[in-house]
Amino acid sequence: MTPAQKAAQYEEAAKEIAAVLEGEPNLTARMATVACLLFQAFDHYFWTGFYVVDPEKPDELVAGPYQGTLGCMRIAFGRGVCGTAAATRLTQIVDDVHAFPGHIPCDAASKSEIVVPVFDKAGDLIAVFDVDSTAYGSFDETDKDWLERIMKESFGG
Ligand code: SME
Repeated sequence: MTPAQKAAQYEEAAKEIAAVLEGEPNLTARMATVACLLFQAFDHYFWTGFYVVDPEKPDELVAGPYQGTLGCMRIAFGRGVCGTAAATRLTQIVDDVHAFPGHIPCDAASKSEIVVPVFDKAGDLIAVFDVDSTAYGSFDETDKDWLERIMKESFGG
């Protein structure tokens, strides 16, 4: 897939997401919609979903709406790829998950991964969005730019 093809697919998915979310305030429904439509947008995505900041334990992520095989239930800030994205508030791109220190293997099919922090309108971290791929090196700056944009449009200001 060329960068232009990838960007075109993201653009189409972003439009569809915005259209379905229009007028729906419920956060769980919005997250479920984003996870579903991005899961369907790319063949090599085998897991898409949110780990949300637990209001009871603000330094811990807990499984939110997702598509794919069973994900782990809780991830402490700083642990694995998701916990690193939450702790640093920065998108993590991992070409080979086996080479990432502390990676949490939920499914052996996962080869590469991108995790994007998700902020609300006030700029507070509310979740991270995780995408796993069955191929190595699936994610680059195009994925980062589009996923950050989709998360901002769906949950931020
Ligand atoms: N691999 C992730 C854990 C979540 S799952 O892949 C669904 C991580 O290291 O944060």
